[in-house]
Amino acid sequence: MVSPSPTTSSPLDSRRFLFVTGKGGVGKTTTTAAIALALAARGRKVLVVSSDAKERLSELFDAPPLGPELSQLAPNVQGVRPEPAKALREYGAMILKSRLLTEAVFDSKYTRGFFAGVPGMSEWAVLGKAWFHATETDDAGRPRFDTVLFDAPATGHGLDMLRVPKILVELTPPGVLRRDAEAAWTMFRDPAQSGVVVVTLPEDMPTNETLELVHALEHELGLPLARLVVNAVLTQLFSVEERARLLEARPSAAPGGEALRAGARRAIREAIQQEALQRLRGVSAAPVLLPRLLGESANLAAARQLAHYF
Ligand SMILES: Nc1ncnc2c1ncn2[C@@H]1O[C@H](COP(=O)(O)OP(=O)(O)O)[C@@H](O)[C@H]1O
Ligand SMILES: [Mg+2]
Repeated sequence: MVSPSPTTSSPLDSRRFLFVTGKGGVGKTTTTAAIALALAARGRKVLVVSSDAKERLSELFDAPPLGPELSQLAPNVQGVRPEPAKALREYGAMILKSRLLTEAVFDSKYTRGFFAGVPGMSEWAVLGKAWFHATETDDAGRPRFDTVLFDAPATGHGLDMLRVPKILVELTPPGVLRRDAEAAWTMFRDPAQSGVVVVTLPEDMPTNETLELVHALEHELGLPLARLVVNAVLTQLFSVEERARLLEARPSAAPGGEALRAGARRAIREAIQQEALQRLRGVSAAPVLLPRLLGESANLAAARQLAHYF
């Protein structure tokens, strides 16, 4: 049986920036909502940033769709979905510091593509906006948000976006852009401030990709793994011996044959899950195991249920 673990000293609570990534469809958005609710319940002010044009994050809060302006999703939880073009323009305006210059750069037919043509600029506008909110302070100098949760896009490993500040640091000339990218990159690499939450399913292929992803995080990018989350874990019904017997049994047309076949199918899935979990524990000793939900999984009740695990 998968049961919530004690949540008092979760390694997520102290971090200001969390990047939730993993393959498409594994439950990144669901996990983002669950973490947001868990942190908010412990009194942290949370901002969730969706990078997905067809975001479904708001559904998990039973809230209207997210837009480019911050909106309230739940007590202590706000959300935003930056539009790359708009975020780029905002960022350009900040760098150029003049309305006329901004209009000249963004509205002239000759230079309209100027920023958009810089590789990674459109991704940076979105990620940089999330980073900016993670550093934002109120009038009294207190952080506006305790935690910014970034629900990463499903492209490739979801790592492409995280590579952008690194590339900007390496390739752009000194200036505001490079300064911001450097500050963001320093924050993202600091385990006291940031971390990556990697989400996967307890299956063979997702496990292979997750092991590669964690390896790239740690060795290529030097980004801290905050949590490994294994989503949609089945309750184990059979022991190893029972699984073996079910798989050996030759279901016939005799009464009970259908039940035996169903049992054998389940035994196979449990065996695959068991092996995946064993491999995943090789890179993270104590992954968070989220149960497979049986009912509706894309609403606030589901997100609340999963929040207990963080
Ligand atoms: N633990 C779970 N149990 C059952 N269904 C789930 C669970 N987690 C996610 N789902 C469902 O799986 C689908 C993909 O989840 P989602 O969080 O949108 O993944 P991603 O953001 O990685 O693409 C959605 O329909 C979601 O409701
Ligand atoms: Mg998603």
